[in-house]
Amino acid sequence: MEKFVINGGKELHGEVEISGAKNAAVAIIPATILAGDVCRIENIPDIRDVQVMVKILIDMGAAVRYINLNTLEIDTRHITSYVIPYEMTKYSRSSYYLLGALLGRYNHAKVAMPGGCNFGGVRPIDFHLKGFAKLGAAISNDNGMINAEAETLTGNVIYFDKVSVGATVNIMLAAVKAKGLTIIENAAKEPHIVDLANFLNLMGANVTGAGTDVIKIRGVEALHGCTYSIIPDQIEAGTYMVAAAAAKGDILIKNVIPKHLESITAKLRECGITVIENDDSLRIISHSRGGSCKVTAMPHPGFPTDMQPQMTTFLATCNGTSIVTDGVWDNRFRYVDQLIRMGASIQIEGKAAIITGVEKLHAAPIKADDLRAGAAMLIAGMCAEGETVIEDIYHIERGYEKVVEKLQGLGVDIKKINFPDEAPKAVNNAG
Ligand code: EPZ
Repeated sequence: MEKFVINGGKELHGEVEISGAKNAAVAIIPATILAGDVCRIENIPDIRDVQVMVKILIDMGAAVRYINLNTLEIDTRHITSYVIPYEMTKYSRSSYYLLGALLGRYNHAKVAMPGGCNFGGVRPIDFHLKGFAKLGAAISNDNGMINAEAETLTGNVIYFDKVSVGATVNIMLAAVKAKGLTIIENAAKEPHIVDLANFLNLMGANVTGAGTDVIKIRGVEALHGCTYSIIPDQIEAGTYMVAAAAAKGDILIKNVIPKHLESITAKLRECGITVIENDDSLRIISHSRGGSCKVTAMPHPGFPTDMQPQMTTFLATCNGTSIVTDGVWDNRFRYVDQLIRMGASIQIEGKAAIITGVEKLHAAPIKADDLRAGAAMLIAGMCAEGETVIEDIYHIERGYEKVVEKLQGLGVDIKKINFPDEAPKAVNNAG
């Protein structure tokens, strides 16, 4: 089994380049299906979640050519089937975007649903299905396959009870070629929603309002191919920001959109960390133990839930008592047990973690419970004195491109080591 081995306690120095956004890529790749044409997508992160999505498109009949590791040419002219079996979807949570994309192109999609979530709670898709129904699709569950079918898709007003990234994406995909006007109310505002809207518009769609609560999609007859470059990954950038704050040092994070990182910048500054914003880079300077703060994970522009485990880990090493609340997902504090084994003092009460900062974490064998919990374990390992060994690192590699090389470039003593005598574990669903 492959593991990360970190000798912690060293400051971070140097520069790191942020890759393209995972959660934009896993929406934009299936969106190419709508074009029925050739799209060139640049700044694609070379990570497992993307590789899984690309493999699904190839299995569907798309011709995919890697121009280089981060640029893909996807030709969806010859996709013939709207049926996606479980064998193709089981490794990718975001394969639910195939429902919206196929429904949008063929008025028919039959897609096996990926399993449960990798951070413990339920991940329902009822908003997605209600939205498709509002556009005129008949929905049924056929032995684990969601079947969505319409004579014609017709625009409608769709209100979400709770902000949902996935449902907003799926309705945008299904509605771009529907008849008339679709209005999504209480839409998600995450940077990857805006990125998807920009991509759809470049293909000839008419989407306005992305980045606000109300997105309007005027259906168009046809779309066409285009060349598009994906935005930098907000969460990868945030992870390096918090890593430098926690392990201390002075680093420059390049290829970022500082506006997307404002909630993280604000919280780090509140804890006494210096964050200097440039046009497309951020410098983080941390020389002494940070202070405490209160953090509430919320949809964008609030503090991202996908940064909650990393921030909690940082606060576990800060002065004073901090409270971190995650109202987006139930049960996203599973990883806290690992931190406690490393000497952290954290109590979970419902959706809140009450953190009493300790001076030092100590090394221990730990595991990555999911992608962002795994990122938090990396940060814990960087802060701890001694050798930390992290298991189940495939979760981390799902979402962080060249993580070992990037951290080594910042001076972190990290290695990926294959421990051959242990049986490989099954791979969980991606998120
Ligand atoms: C996206 O998941 C991200 N994944 C997640 O990132 C992220 O944690 C999440 O948004 C929240 O920001 C991708 O973009 C691929 P949601 P998604 O629909 O779309 C409830 C990572 O680490 N809900 O916004 O699945 C749901 O239970 C991953 O990169 C319903 O009740 O999340 C949750 O409480 C993990 N019914 C809330 O809404 C629905 O039909 C937000 O979920 C849909 C969602």
